[in-house]
Formats: sequence, C-alpha cells, structure tokens
Amino acid sequence: MPGPTESSSGMREPSRPRFAILASGRGSNADALMRAFKRNFIAGEVVALVSNVEGAGVLERAREHGVPGHVVVSKGLTREAHEGALLTVLEKTGAEHLLLAGYMRILSPWFLGRFGGRILNIHPSLLPEFPGLHGAERQWQAGRSVVGATVHFVDGGVDTGPVVLQGSIEVRGDEGPEGLAQRILNEVEHVIYPRAVRLFVERLTKPVET
Ligand code: GRF
Repeated sequence: MPGPTESSSGMREPSRPRFAILASGRGSNADALMRAFKRNFIAGEVVALVSNVEGAGVLERAREHGVPGHVVVSKGLTREAHEGALLTVLEKTGAEHLLLAGYMRILSPWFLGRFGGRILNIHPSLLPEFPGLHGAERQWQAGRSVVGATVHFVDGGVDTGPVVLQGSIEVRGDEGPEGLAQRILNEVEHVIYPRAVRLFVERLTKPVET
C-alpha cells in the first residue's frame, strides 16, 4: 500500500495508487481509462502508458491526456529481454499496478511475480467462454444472443484469471461480427473497465474485514 503524502493544507493524506497502462494498438480502452482517471472517477494516477509497438495509436491518446508515453519494443527480442526492459521502465515510473488494454503479449510467470495480483486485463467475451483472439467476433459466430466483455486479474493462463466485473448486451440480428465487436467495445468495455478499476481501488483502500 502506498504511504501518506503531504497535501497543500499540510495534512497527511493517503497517496493515490499509481497505475501504468500497457497497450499495443489503437487505444480506445486506454482512452476510456485515462478519461476516468482525469475526472477522478478513479481515485488514482496514471503515471505511464507503455506500448510495445512503435507508432501505435495509443501513444497519441496518451499524449492527448498528458500521460507520459513510453515505447518498449518487443519485436525481435526474446521474452526475457523484452520483459527485463519493460520492468526497468515501469520501476522508473513508480507504477504499482498495471492495466492491460489491448496488450498483445503473454506475460511470463517471472514478470507476473513482480506484480502479483496487481494486473488487470479486459477481454471482449463473457469469460470463461471465448478466451484468446477475436473473442467478440466469435460470440457472433457462435450465435449467442447475449454477449459481453470481462475485466479480470491476469494469471499465468490466457484470459483465465479471477473475474472482477462483466457486462453484457443483447445481439441485434443485422450487425454482423464487426458491428457487434464495435458495440461491445463502446457499450460494454469502455464502461466496465473504468468501473472495475474503481472497484479495485476501493478494495485497496477499504478492505472488507473477514
Ligand atoms: C479490446 O477489444 C480489448 O478487449 C482487447 O483488445 C482490444 C483493444 O482495443 N483486449 P483498444 O485498443 O482498446 O481499442
């Protein structure tokens, strides 16, 4: 848990949890998260956005929000070398928790151990159904009438960690796989990811006594 900090009034107050967002692509979820932090819907700080892809759209989203963007390229590197470089960058930023938002890398047990229980991910299906790639489109192809997305903790498997929050919508007959994927993104993912992170922060700061 972060320690107390001095406020402008001179009072000691608990410092806010520090997050880094990891993303590889266009960054619509990262954008939704940064907006939520900015309007204080989530009581924390985004200290960095890290992409493993040079020129990824998400870096521009970070710039728009004034969040420091970093590129730690993964292409051509072994997993060990890439994760070593990533950890060095993250340690410098002071990030305590990680939010994966379209981060297209599987993290090793070594890396997960460094952030045990402090990494969240969003996946475009109602897990445990349709883990892996193209979860949104596969819900259409399977003929599901109710579809959705899941925010979960990251463990050593592919989209297998404990669920934090899920959201769903009803399928329309005429939208096709791409239209449905877009609606899952806009109507579910961008809503539940900020809520899940808010809940995560509440659990950090107001734990339930057992
Ligand atoms: C989203 O569908 C997310 O669920 C998945 O990757 C996609 C990223 O999209 N993990 P975006 O870059 O956030 O727009």
